Amino acid sequence: MRRGGSAPCPAATRTTMTVDYPTLARTVAALTEGEDDAVALMATLACEIHHSDDRFDWTGFYRVTAPGLLKIGPYQGGHGCLVIPFSRGVCGACARSGETQLVPDVEAFPGHIACASSTRSELVLPVRDRSGAIIAVLDIDSDLPDAFTEADATALQDILDATFAR
Ligand code: SME
Repeated sequence: MRRGGSAPCPAATRTTMTVDYPTLARTVAALTEGEDDAVALMATLACEIHHSDDRFDWTGFYRVTAPGLLKIGPYQGGHGCLVIPFSRGVCGACARSGETQLVPDVEAFPGHIACASSTRSELVLPVRDRSGAIIAVLDIDSDLPDAFTEADATALQDILDATFAR
């Protein structure tokens, strides 16, 4: 962005927002206190997480709606695929294995489902209820390559566990 005249915008005004996890965790805890409806919780988390960080271009949940099947849940960003079998894509791999999928390069992930051609990297985390059953996955996509770290995965998993497994 340029601000008047021909002078270039000072570098200091070009800020990139990265997530402040302690603040995000406190905000989510306050907003969701006493709520146990899964869709209400997912909608609130999708909004709060998505807007906490400029790296996140699509943030949302795929819910386990039948054995081996994921369907789209609350999300922020462009439209997402409606149905993903456990056998397909990064989300399917997470739901199938119960393991976090940190994918620095989606082109290198066999079977990656490209809902948006701009996506370069992804982080997908399992969402478990109090019994430990996987009820959904949280999918965060970035248009930047290698956008996610282990620290992102750990902090986001803590927020998911505190919200859905309480
Ligand atoms: N890329 C995901 C599909 C979901 S969309 O990107 C929103 C995957 O391969 O699981």
